[in-house]
Amino acid sequence: MTVRVEMGKDTGGAAVSMDLEELLATRLLVQGNSGSGKSHLLRRLLEQSAGQVQQVVIDPEGDFVTLGDRYGHIAIEASEHSERDVARFATRIREHRASVVLSLEGLEAEGQMKCAAAFLNGLFDAPREHWYPALVVVDEAQLFAPAGGGEVAEDVRRASLSAMTNLMCRGRKRGLAGVIATQRLAKLAKNVAAEASNFLMGRTFLDIDMARAADLLGMERRQAEAIRDLQRGHFLALGPAVARRPVAIQIGAVETSARSSSPKLTPLPQAPAEDFRDLLLAPAEPSWSPPVPMAASAPVPSERLIEALARATPMPVEAVPDVPAEEAAERIADVLRDIVEDAESTYRSPSVLYQDFLVRCRMVGLARPPLDLSGFVRRLSAARAGIHGDPDADWAQALDAARALPDDMLGPFLLVARAAREGLPCPSDTELAATYGTSSLGRVRRLLTYIESKELFVTRVDLAGKRSITIPRLGWTTQPSEMG
Ligand SMILES: Nc1ncnc2c1ncn2[C@@H]1O[C@H](COP(=O)(O)OP(=O)(O)OP(=O)(O)O)[C@@H](O)[C@H]1O
Ligand SMILES: [Mg+2]
Repeated sequence: MTVRVEMGKDTGGAAVSMDLEELLATRLLVQGNSGSGKSHLLRRLLEQSAGQVQQVVIDPEGDFVTLGDRYGHIAIEASEHSERDVARFATRIREHRASVVLSLEGLEAEGQMKCAAAFLNGLFDAPREHWYPALVVVDEAQLFAPAGGGEVAEDVRRASLSAMTNLMCRGRKRGLAGVIATQRLAKLAKNVAAEASNFLMGRTFLDIDMARAADLLGMERRQAEAIRDLQRGHFLALGPAVARRPVAIQIGAVETSARSSSPKLTPLPQAPAEDFRDLLLAPAEPSWSPPVPMAASAPVPSERLIEALARATPMPVEAVPDVPAEEAAERIADVLRDIVEDAESTYRSPSVLYQDFLVRCRMVGLARPPLDLSGFVRRLSAARAGIHGDPDADWAQALDAARALPDDMLGPFLLVARAAREGLPCPSDTELAATYGTSSLGRVRRLLTYIESKELFVTRVDLAGKRSITIPRLGWTTQPSEMG
């Protein structure tokens, strides 16, 4: 039985499709720079093949959960579950042949890797009677199968890499067909990339990635120069499931209502999505054991609960005389400064630091919580950016501009704002990471993209690779400086 999935049109306007069964046997690798249209391409593939084959998406950004609205995919928010839960869901997913999106949004890099490894191992270790065919789509695959060592613990990196290697090298027999996308081939482990026989190459700027793309496509380097000039949404495709020679495709639209009525590979169960969700996510039956937290650095799940607990703490209000407002403000500034100067505070979650703040305030004679959690996070962010005490008029303007940002982004924002106001060099990624309370440079880059998307930053990288940031609303610009 042949089921063809229409991906888009070639340069002559003829439809280009993929053979789904062939794809299941031969896997797919998608590469292209950020914005080249990889996620769109994956979505097109998923939408067009939804209902024909079981689909499992590992989604670092939580982009694909919207598939559920139209196609019934069940979204699993990894940050709400333990590693053990996620492995258990994977087993049920295989048993019930459910299409799901595992969103890893909100987890640190290490948590994402641990979770993806547990999930993939769960899929892989399913009993033989559940080895039904499934597409396993992994966006940003270099996060889970990095080419080199990174900022994460070695055992975590190894576990994640080995799960991805299993998926791509040994998954086929178990029905698992890896479809992976990456921004940078050079950043993806070679053995993981090498197991795909189908390739879709989008716009690629860097020579090192282009050279690897050319090798995989079996093209001359000169010919491969064409990859540099590809437009968004245009890809060169090659492989047994798509074409025997490289063909240029423009990927078609997504969220079309035209669900293909081609013959199904094997009929999937027709349970309504809600029942399915209950079935898959129900707690373990007899042998329930307490969940293992995903990562020590994962945020404390319920900040509100902690806030409520803080409020419930009996404070010896009567015993401490009221402190005049000005004096209190100074003490609060000192307490915040002490917290920032305590090296251990950098990677503690805001809610833990808030507890610390309350205790320290009581120690300096401030009985009532002088700030709520949100107010504390904003002040702490300002203090981390070197702004102590009440913001003066200029900072009020900056704080006003930053109103669109969540509290925890204020630190990096103000750090840049301060450098920009004083005409100092742009803070490095590492400095921004420390202000953001993370060690992940990936998170810092996502943070900058987010702030840019809110039009609060305009980033410019000069030919020497130095970055400067302008805050258009305030008309301030940093000096250019090294990013790393
Ligand atoms: N074939 C297409 N037709 C129409 N719009 C497209 C097409 N491909 C991509 N786009 C649009 O271009 C933008 C970037 O695409 P996409 O998010 O897929 O890029 P990406 O390669 O996944 O980038 P990143 O690596 O940063 O995740 C999106 O807004 C998307 O809707
Ligand atoms: Mg993407």
